[in-house]
Amino acid sequence: MNMLYEGKAKRIFETEKEDQVIVYYKDDATAFNGEKKGTIEDKGIMNNEITSIIFRYLADHGIPTHYIRTISEREQLVKRVSIIPLEVIVRNVAAGSFSKRLGVPEGQSLQTTIFEICYKNDDYGDPLINDTHAVALGLSTFDELKEIYALTEKINHLLKDFFLKLGLILVDFKLEFGKDKDGNILLADEISPDTCRLWDEKTNEKMDKDRFRRNLDNVKGAYSEVISRMKQGES
Ligand code: C5P
Repeated sequence: MNMLYEGKAKRIFETEKEDQVIVYYKDDATAFNGEKKGTIEDKGIMNNEITSIIFRYLADHGIPTHYIRTISEREQLVKRVSIIPLEVIVRNVAAGSFSKRLGVPEGQSLQTTIFEICYKNDDYGDPLINDTHAVALGLSTFDELKEIYALTEKINHLLKDFFLKLGLILVDFKLEFGKDKDGNILLADEISPDTCRLWDEKTNEKMDKDRFRRNLDNVKGAYSEVISRMKQGES
């Protein structure tokens, strides 16, 4: 099958059906806009599994997504969408670039949930923008942003609850949305420890890609612990 696109962590292949593509999850890991590169053994397998479980859970709770089904250890069949070039970030607890930029200690609670949008553009390091930037640049319309924020709020409620039942605090995460051929907005990309900060509820231990970013040990072990808690949660 023809490869349509290769990103940092995934490859996209076409299928016989024009409106469906295959997503292949790689083991490659990058951080700091590609400055740090490495691999995490079996990450592709683990993130495919984690994303598949989460996307099925979200679909069961009324969220429109691109996910169709998981077809192998590393592959998902998904609806073809044109990705809206925005990264939508939700912060429930201070951490990461928010803490660094504003001098707020990691772990500090917030008076309200924060929604951020960043322009998906590697050359400029995915800069933080606001709604009027997004509309002025033609990345989306105000109506689309309204729909995206409404979906994001629902997703945050569902995911916080999902992870808390597994003893994990959903500190922050990133979403991407796309539009299908009829213009419907669908949740796309992945939701995994690559795209979320997850802290153990009891110990505050980091169970996500920060272990890779910050050169902590046992990166693979953290991802597989997330999967095993999910599987216990399912049974
Ligand atoms: O780095 P920062 O604190 O802005 O990241 C916020 C959240 O968004 C983290 O969970 C991080 O994993 C996720 N993120 C991502 N992809 C990016 C930027 C951030 O998944 N390009």
